[in-house]
Amino acid sequence: MFRNYTCGELRQEHIGKNVTLAGWVQRTRKMGGMTFVDLRDRYGITQLVFNQEVNAELCEKSNKLGREFVIQIKGLVSERSSKNKNIPTGDIEIIVDELNVLNSSEVPPFTIEENTDGGDDIRMQYRYLDLRRSNVRANLELRHKMAIEIRKYLDEQHFMEVETPILINSTPEGARDFVVPSRMSPGEFYALPQSPQLFKQLLMVSGFDRYFQIAKCFRDEDLRADRQPEFTQIDCEMTFVEQEDVINIFENMTKHLFKFVKGIEFNDAFPRMTWEDAMNTYGSDKPDIRFGMPFVELKDLTLGANFSVFDSADYVGGICAEGCANYTRKQIDQLTDFVKRPQIGAKGLIWIRVEENGSLKSSIDKFYTPEQVKAMADKCQAKPGDLVLVLCGERRKTQKQLCELRLEMGTRLGFRDKNVYAPLWVIDFPLFEWDDETQRFYAMHHPFTMPNPEDVPMLDTDPGKVRAWAYDMVINGVELGGGSIRIHDGKLQQKMFSLLGLSQEEAQRKFGYLLNAFKYGAPPHGGLAFGLDRMVSMFAGLDSIRDCIAFPKNNSGRDVMIDAPSKIDDSQLDELNLKIDIKEKK
Ligand code: AMO
Repeated sequence: MFRNYTCGELRQEHIGKNVTLAGWVQRTRKMGGMTFVDLRDRYGITQLVFNQEVNAELCEKSNKLGREFVIQIKGLVSERSSKNKNIPTGDIEIIVDELNVLNSSEVPPFTIEENTDGGDDIRMQYRYLDLRRSNVRANLELRHKMAIEIRKYLDEQHFMEVETPILINSTPEGARDFVVPSRMSPGEFYALPQSPQLFKQLLMVSGFDRYFQIAKCFRDEDLRADRQPEFTQIDCEMTFVEQEDVINIFENMTKHLFKFVKGIEFNDAFPRMTWEDAMNTYGSDKPDIRFGMPFVELKDLTLGANFSVFDSADYVGGICAEGCANYTRKQIDQLTDFVKRPQIGAKGLIWIRVEENGSLKSSIDKFYTPEQVKAMADKCQAKPGDLVLVLCGERRKTQKQLCELRLEMGTRLGFRDKNVYAPLWVIDFPLFEWDDETQRFYAMHHPFTMPNPEDVPMLDTDPGKVRAWAYDMVINGVELGGGSIRIHDGKLQQKMFSLLGLSQEEAQRKFGYLLNAFKYGAPPHGGLAFGLDRMVSMFAGLDSIRDCIAFPKNNSGRDVMIDAPSKIDDSQLDELNLKIDIKEKK
């Protein structure tokens, strides 16, 4: 037997037992005639003791152990004289009487400790060592536990897990596809699923009623802390449901997970906010509502002063930063630089200080009377000691910039505590989004989303105003999941395609199978998908979803450990009938 206990298991009650353990050497310490070894496995750390006086040969052997050597020991569980309250096995130690070195190890490129000295790149290159660190492993343990609980929960609600294919055609979820060349059909390509969207809808046509899948999805898009090129969805679909039914089921699932993982109970329904309100109040379709600081429209108070900056703007919006009136010139300059960064793109920042004595100072004193400035501060509900920050410009663009500023101020003021959770549903998304560059509409969610029936007449007259039956669950400013009620009528689907600029032939070529399926009694249906990686990283309090993915890609989409993507052999290219001719990037 390799071992009869793990390294996280032994306690006071085991004192006096002879045990066999196996694991990795975390570290060794020589103190006088004694050598102490911390032995580590997945379950914890146990202290081993070798005594020069009792067994000199064995102790010598232990002195040769290096970090990450794999060993097996036999020994006696004994009470520690100086107990370590920081670890569960801290009351005991093992007096070793047999040591077998199962494998040696080179010195690892970084320390296998919670606070490692390894930078990101090196840890990713040696991810199998990084995964030995207990905090990284804990994230994956949480992921495992959540996946099991989600399966259990959905099974109890009669959802059936069905696997859908990976080698498919394009699924329009708004990103680029990853493609795979076909050997058997030269010159043709599969696309990897951006989501199982159309398959789950077809399963509803098949009468499966309630489907889910913990599904891998693939999207070739710009990567961020909460985006990976391959990620995992908890993908769900239901038949004979309205928006309210879907929201209820998955709000309950989310509440269940909060209780299960964090012991937090949400008694009230999650708040709901229309997309329009979310944009106007927080400048984002995923508002962080852990704190207030809502946008206040000031345009009406700025008119008639011949201040061209405000006059030429179609939107002037302010936020009130509590207690920040004492910001120094330097701090305000920093904020100005912040909003002027190319990623944010504001032209400048206007400020109004409400001093403790109630007097006002602002960067627009030259253009407005004290009464006018006061009216603006009052509208923002600024009290003595507060600082009002104002941006102006094109409405939606400025709201997005003000959103960044609000989040920055929220962070500075300590309002974005990771242990506080503020969920909400964002509803009534527009069906379409206009793109100035290509001068056409795009589906805001995806092309299979049902327009709100009240707005269907506007499809022909004012498509930009049509609301969708679509909903996102947002927690702490992160879009955790989203979905919609689907179109199940072939004619409406066809119309949707044509509004998106797809000719009838094109629609038939790309989505003929769906349009055909809709001819055979497609039931009303709808669903949603959560990002599992985002959900786990939120519960684990992580800054990046990479930390809860065993083998993630870096920001350039590379797996630096296996060095993918990589070139393929000429023979493989021949088999695929492909010739590589890399074009210069435009
Ligand atoms: P959507 O595109 O909103 O909807 O995706 C659903 C959820 O998946 C997560 N997500 C991601 N997570 C990590 N990396 C990414 N690159 C990434 N992209 C998306 C987010 C998001 O909320 N088929 C529809 C769902 C439906 O309509 O039922 C869909 O995929 O948490």
